[in-house]
Amino acid sequence: MIRSVVRGSGAALPRRIMKNADFEGMVETSDEWIVQRTGIRQRHVAADDETTASLGEGAARAALDSAGLTPADIDLIVLATSTPNNTFPATAVEIQNRLGMHHGFAFDMQAVCSGFVYAVATADLYIRGGLAKRVLVIGSETFSRILDWSDRSTCVLFGDGAGALVLEAGEGAGGVADRGVLAASLRSDGVHKDKLFVDGGPSTTGTVGHLRMEGREVFKHAVGMITDVIEATFAQAGITADDLDWFVPHQANKRIIDASAKKLGIAEQKVVVTVDLHGNTSAASVPLALSVAVADGRIKKGDLVLLEAMGGGFTWGAVLVRW
Ligand code: ACO
Repeated sequence: MIRSVVRGSGAALPRRIMKNADFEGMVETSDEWIVQRTGIRQRHVAADDETTASLGEGAARAALDSAGLTPADIDLIVLATSTPNNTFPATAVEIQNRLGMHHGFAFDMQAVCSGFVYAVATADLYIRGGLAKRVLVIGSETFSRILDWSDRSTCVLFGDGAGALVLEAGEGAGGVADRGVLAASLRSDGVHKDKLFVDGGPSTTGTVGHLRMEGREVFKHAVGMITDVIEATFAQAGITADDLDWFVPHQANKRIIDASAKKLGIAEQKVVVTVDLHGNTSAASVPLALSVAVADGRIKKGDLVLLEAMGGGFTWGAVLVRW
């Protein structure tokens, strides 16, 4: 059978790093509160010349380099983002143009923080369905542009950045020993819309709006939703937590990551944590964490890696990949 195999990965971050202490003169907060409640120590913030498209292009070029490929080898770009450069055209098409790619096709996916997990599952279907052979899957965000910088309960949590994978059609025997995407489970439920949303949009206010979140409410649902969808993915693949080499969760809050891993019985040393470095970068969070763990030699060819995310909507999902 056809499998969607990871051939390369990469990332791009804005030049400017903002430390927790930098918020202390802006809103009533402290480094101690932010670290204790979230595990975040710093985040990258985009300058005016850094956009979702430019960061996405940077991550795409890094992933292509690591794969030893060029844009000519790619036939589809799927970009996960909730902060596109423009309402339309899709920022994926802008990235396609920036890469000098005038063949194939490109589109955006919007599932907020779950966007990258949705995008990997979608790219896998395009590859297995024969519509594409090599796909650039990108998560890129500039959440700094939709933050209310006077709201301490949200502005300290988010950051900007981008990460990307190149997925390529390969042959598999159909079992869990195959390299590539092995199982996926996606969920959404709009009943939770008001707990995490942006209070603007083209069809309502005609403005971009600002992120609003009832953090405590999101927290209350997060661990249960994450663990349910992961258990469904384990069941699909016929594996247990012990079989995993690496757990790469959405990086929103260290306490959510720790509680989910504990509930699932995933050993602490298998959990990739980058929330301290990047904050919550929404759809970029999982591919940024992946690129760190690949670059430092933790994730290697043949490793069994579980990706997971949960975000606005709510949306949530998990993907199991043999690297
Ligand atoms: N600095 C200091 N105090 C603060 C800050 C801050 N930056 N923010 C809030 N507080 C205060 C609150 O006002 C509150 O004060 P009060 O007790 O006087 O009312 C107190 O700290 C506790 O607030 P809580 O909201 O109960 O704090 P909690 O421990 O729940 O932590 C947090 C807040 C970090 C937001 C947490 O709830 C969380 O991580 N939620 C989940 C977020 C998440 O996972 N999002 C994922 C999806 S993101 C996406 O899809 C875009």
